[in-house]
Amino acid sequence: MTSFKFLRYPGGKQRLLNYIIPHLPASDSITNNYIEPFVGGGAVFFAINPVRAILSDINHELIMLYRGIKYAPRKVWKQYSSFPSTKEGYYTIRDEFTCNRLISRAARILYLNRTCFKGMWRHNSKGEFNIGYGGQDRRWVINEKDLVEVSKRLKKVELLCADFEKVINSSAAGDFIFLDPPYKPHEKECVNEHFTYGRFTFQDHIRLSRVLQSATSRGVKWAMTTSSHKDILSLFEGNQVIKIPIGTGSKPGILTKDSGEVLIRNYEKV
Ligand SMILES: C[S@@+](CC[C@H](N)C(=O)[O-])C[C@H]1O[C@@H](n2cnc3c(N)ncnc32)[C@H](O)[C@@H]1O
Repeated sequence: MTSFKFLRYPGGKQRLLNYIIPHLPASDSITNNYIEPFVGGGAVFFAINPVRAILSDINHELIMLYRGIKYAPRKVWKQYSSFPSTKEGYYTIRDEFTCNRLISRAARILYLNRTCFKGMWRHNSKGEFNIGYGGQDRRWVINEKDLVEVSKRLKKVELLCADFEKVINSSAAGDFIFLDPPYKPHEKECVNEHFTYGRFTFQDHIRLSRVLQSATSRGVKWAMTTSSHKDILSLFEGNQVIKIPIGTGSKPGILTKDSGEVLIRNYEKV
């Protein structure tokens, strides 16, 4: 495994790291906390490797997974490895396996993530994970050592399950916030069934622009990937906009040249 790709995550920034990281501060220049309020698979967090961080997401199961790996990576691995390797077994773990222990929950989520169809993450109206089986090909791409490494990286990380507004409002001078909200390239809002919490409306972008404006006035530095739609850009006027030359465009999984994605930041130079 390279670059801590232990999770498959819709909208993950793994493949765009080369275009994003040069525009962000290096770990040793972040004087206080590195904060990610929409952490998802955490591609940017793992690439920057900050000394102290706050990682948050509204996806509760995702945060349970991070917590399980942080506290007991070897136990999570042991249970993950013991789960079945068949399609029928997948549906048994998905639909019938219930356990409230943090380790078991984390192992189950990791197993579903690595063996479900295309790493999608969606729940039905009852809150049950409902993605079909995808195969075992990506299950053994990760190993116990990888989870131990992830756990080490999470040692100085506070993990929260919260709406972005609360997390951003708690930031202070010296913090750096990286934001990757759900968005659809070129579009004004995102109603995307690949995410658990994929409904991110224009009202949410307005809410986001307000809390970021207030963070700026407190001396917080931030950078955000988002859609290049003119209505989104107009919410962040006065900040620097950098085009991301390639992206997932309108077809998830396929990189395209007309990305429709930008990086917006409230500082001139790193
Ligand atoms: C584009 S993904 C982040 C992907 C991540 N950067 C990566 O590389 O894997 C957006 C994330 O925002 C989360 N999210 C959606 N609405 C949210 C909200 N109101 N507050 C906090 N997180 C939210 C979703 O659960 C999802 O994990």
